[in-house]
Amino acid sequence: MFRPYIVGLGGTTREGSSTEKAISLASNYQGQSDLGGTGQADGIILGTPGYHGGLSGLVKNALDYTEDLRSDKRPYLEDRPVGCVVTAAGEQAAVTTLAALRSVVHALRGWPTPLGVTIVTSDQVFDAAGICICPRIETQLRILSQQVLDFARLRARADSRRPEPGAEVPSDNSRVARQETP
Ligand SMILES: Cc1cc2nc3c(=O)[nH]c(=O)nc-3n(C[C@H](O)[C@H](O)[C@H](O)COP(=O)(O)O)c2cc1C
Repeated sequence: MFRPYIVGLGGTTREGSSTEKAISLASNYQGQSDLGGTGQADGIILGTPGYHGGLSGLVKNALDYTEDLRSDKRPYLEDRPVGCVVTAAGEQAAVTTLAALRSVVHALRGWPTPLGVTIVTSDQVFDAAGICICPRIETQLRILSQQVLDFARLRARADSRRPEPGAEVPSDNSRVARQETP
């Protein structure tokens, strides 16, 4: 079975960053993952803290570097599922930032997963080792991770069935006509 390569991207420079813990957890549920470049990724787990109601400059800057991928076979985040995770001290910044993050992913031609995860960090959600001590958030991160994996597999299957450019594709009508020919 095809094993998608999932990349985790984001976090903060703060030691013990809860954003980084959430990304690590979500990208490691599926085994094959990395905190690396997006160019080779089949799926991405993308996380940012909410800073003054939007993405952090650090994460936005990293995303802006996808401009370097504009001439690639798969430019920007094209055709890749992106699981969006946001941490913030309060609910309001968490949800506005999630909407902003999804808008950026759309602009980069990625496919935000149906579920995005918002984590309010004024409650303790992770322990020092990065274990999620909130079952509700743990479940959400697991679902988001599964959605990234499922979409990456569907995408790979669709790509493998796509005819080469210029190849003759029999239409349904021609197939029926062939079957009816005695
Ligand atoms: C510069 C800055 C701006 C922030 N702005 C907000 C904000 O507007 N609303 C909010 O709820 N939390 C805000 N926070 C809190 C962070 O979003 C929150 O602590 C986040 O979980 C930090 O992620 P980390 O644990 O990965 O470092 C801000 C923090 C910083 C440092």
